[in-house]
Amino acid sequence: MVAAVRVHKHGGPEVLTFEQVDVAAPGPGQVRIKQRVCGVNFIDTYFRMGMYASPVGMPFVSGNEGAGDVVAVGQGVSDIQVGDRVAYVSALGGYAEERLLPAERAVKIPSSISYEQAAGMMLKGMTAQYLLRRTFKVAPGNTVLVHAAAGGVGQILSQWAKHLGATVIGTVGSKDKAAIAKASGCDHTILYRDEDFASRVKEITGGALCDVVYDGIGKDTFPKSLDCIRPLGMFASFGSASGKVEAFDINILQFNGSLFATRPTLNNYTATRKDLLMTANDLFDVVAAGKVKIPVTQKYALKDAQKAHADLESRNTTGSSVLIP
Ligand SMILES: NC(=O)c1ccc[n+]([C@@H]2O[C@H](COP(=O)([O-])OP(=O)(O)OC[C@H]3O[C@@H](n4cnc5c(N)ncnc54)[C@H](OP(=O)(O)O)[C@@H]3O)[C@@H](O)[C@H]2O)c1
Repeated sequence: MVAAVRVHKHGGPEVLTFEQVDVAAPGPGQVRIKQRVCGVNFIDTYFRMGMYASPVGMPFVSGNEGAGDVVAVGQGVSDIQVGDRVAYVSALGGYAEERLLPAERAVKIPSSISYEQAAGMMLKGMTAQYLLRRTFKVAPGNTVLVHAAAGGVGQILSQWAKHLGATVIGTVGSKDKAAIAKASGCDHTILYRDEDFASRVKEITGGALCDVVYDGIGKDTFPKSLDCIRPLGMFASFGSASGKVEAFDINILQFNGSLFATRPTLNNYTATRKDLLMTANDLFDVVAAGKVKIPVTQKYALKDAQKAHADLESRNTTGSSVLIP
């Protein structure tokens, strides 16, 4: 038996239950991982509250990201071996001392990357990678708007967009967060709880607006985010921290300047092993080169997952949060 955090019924952070679970020997194509650090992500709250359905039904072990050591491999696994340091994303069952994982989802961690960094960056950093390099290919001279720029994804997006030569505008919920966003590469910050962020973007850009808006907030920033985008620009709505974007009239994209709008997710961008490794390696490269730093700001014991979720949902966090089994 190993310690894990399970959800037996949907609800608030209080439904996260610290308990003992069985972990079987790995089956064909699986590996067993002894986890050193587990990542905490907003998507974990969506599964907990039932916005996303658990693929394994109830109860399920919460969490979608972790880093640790391979302690056993199943039949047919050849490229991952016992003793390898690995990390993974997008596989429910993360908040646990040990877990099984399809070997094809495991990524070997370079020796220059710590377990803590890996668990703090795989999901958020690979998301930043596809948003900046594939959803909209950011180039020098572009202007980008990053919502929640002091958050986990937000700080990585801001640093990486700056590294790519963009002018970065970041929205944040407080003055303290504005200072963090500036240190993460934002040229301009907007206190979107106090100011009309669309008017401020217009002012900052002299009316030229942004080439792309990266919006992980959802309900509260829609449709105003569209007013921040230049004609033919891109609206990348990649999350719902404030709730889902409600159904809207697609003609709004025409009236705002023939905009492109997408609702991307990491699962699709890393569906093949080739894409998974390409995305992870691109992230490892910018981190190893010191171009993107991974701030793991909140660290909790595994048994304190309830507090980790409560802090994340009450906007009390910056950077990444992790659980230590
Ligand atoms: N599509 C994908 O592939 C993908 C992958 C990873 C993450 N995501 C999404 O990216 C977003 C950020 O994830 P994260 O894990 O890095 O979280 P995070 O940004 O560290 O935390 C969320 C932040 O959103 C802001 N926020 C605004 N309104 C909020 C509200 N009503 N409730 C809570 N927070 C609110 C807060 O920052 P301020 O105080 O500065 O407003 C808060 O700190 C989430 O929407 C997540 O679902 C999507």
